[in-house]
Amino acid sequence: MTPARFRFAAFELQLGQRLLLREGRLLPVTSRAFDVLAVLAARAGELVSKEELLAAVWPGLVVEENNIQVQISQLRKLIGAASIATVSGRGYRLTLPCTGDNDAGAVPPAPASVPRQPALPLPPALYGRDEDLSDLDEMVRSRRLVSVLGTSGVGKTALAAAAARRALPRFTDGAAWVDVGTALAPADVVAAIAAALHLATDTPAADVVAHLAARRLLLVLDNADRVSAATAALAATLLAHAPRLHLLVTTQVRLNLLEESVYRLAALAVPTAGTPLAAARTFGALAMLEARVVALDHLFALDEDNIAAAIGLCRKLDGLPLALELAAARVPGLGLRTVLAHLNDGLGLLSGGSAGAAPRHRSLQAALEWSYALLAPEEQALYRELAALPPWFGPDQLGVGPNRALRRLDKLAALVDRSLVVFDGGRAEPYALTETGRLFASAKRRQAGSTDRRKKAGASAGFRYD
Ligand SMILES: Nc1ncnc2c1ncn2[C@@H]1O[C@H](COP(=O)(O)OP(=O)(O)OP(=O)(O)O)[C@@H](O)[C@H]1O
Ligand SMILES: [Mg+2]
Repeated sequence: MTPARFRFAAFELQLGQRLLLREGRLLPVTSRAFDVLAVLAARAGELVSKEELLAAVWPGLVVEENNIQVQISQLRKLIGAASIATVSGRGYRLTLPCTGDNDAGAVPPAPASVPRQPALPLPPALYGRDEDLSDLDEMVRSRRLVSVLGTSGVGKTALAAAAARRALPRFTDGAAWVDVGTALAPADVVAAIAAALHLATDTPAADVVAHLAARRLLLVLDNADRVSAATAALAATLLAHAPRLHLLVTTQVRLNLLEESVYRLAALAVPTAGTPLAAARTFGALAMLEARVVALDHLFALDEDNIAAAIGLCRKLDGLPLALELAAARVPGLGLRTVLAHLNDGLGLLSGGSAGAAPRHRSLQAALEWSYALLAPEEQALYRELAALPPWFGPDQLGVGPNRALRRLDKLAALVDRSLVVFDGGRAEPYALTETGRLFASAKRRQAGSTDRRKKAGASAGFRYD
């Protein structure tokens, strides 16, 4: 069993609450430094290689080794320079004798019958999400089914991971994290939940429900988009039979249950052009972009010369975390201005995500394709049409007669629901595509146009294409 806390010299590291204390007083440790220290403490006295640290602390991300040095030097300032030894060229070692224990103060231990498995994923250092995190925490506290809704790459999984960690001490039976992103059928959802609860994967749904009936547990169902109907059916049964269970779902497609409370996650806040450097840094998108570039190039610094390009990039990418992450990876090689200039050419530059990432997160194109594939054909058709409209448009610009208007408005609302269309009720023309969404939708429009032309040509030549 993983200890709930580690003690070394005058220090205490509380894993559940993510706190570092010195003689009971809180020390200002950043999230990444905390994670590095947790790995070193778990293996105190042993060499922990740089590769192991990178894999444990930046899972799925390609980051430069100097990131580790940054965290280590921060930690040395907090717990003493000699506490962490550098093993030249190989890794680091916590030199202080360290004990782990599970007694009171940290995370309440789960009953033996409900192992807290699999461990909650470590959220990334989250930028610009303080308010979202406390709002979501409040919702998870007071509602039994919360869906975090938003487009691919907006940060639903990252936020849910942070929210689950924050909520954990309130759930006496702990939390279970289930990634249902690869599930294709209802049975896969049940099997994934069973596996997370350490039950046999062929456990019938009724037995999984019975197993959870008396638990005070937070069940996180992550990436439920493709199985939203199956997730909804199961969620409804669980809510009816497990009165102390809370569900947190991340999805691009609402579950559509009466009991569902939806948390719509917007992209990160973006500064307006001309915002001075210090003020611009308080915006989540810029803070994330800067941190991600610095992680890849320690010589990079935002200054008066490049702030305009950095703001331009954040605006062009509409503050979408995945897009910022992919763009940041290009900056050390190309520079901010070149990256910004080439974004107009299409989405090609926003590729090359880390090999550990889900395939849909390796490029923005892949993420948008994933969202697009979740739409019904009529919604896809409308989305393509929107690429031809002015940047902001009203419902009357959809070019529909009164008899089809309601149906089209319904589809438009579905696109807003999936965050593929932005809605700003304060404007006379309240709808817009994001900049990158417009590039994607235009490409789809061209593609569909040429397929139509081929079909017509084929039909007149006597071929069938479908
Ligand atoms: N606020 C943030 N600060 C730093 N990094 C973030 C933030 N939000 C998201 N990220 C990073 O952006 C990437 C995409 O985020 P995430 O996987 O949470 O998106 P998602 O909304 O769950 O996407 P999908 O619908 O495709 O599952 C991840 O690498 C994540 O770590
Ligand atoms: Mg996700």
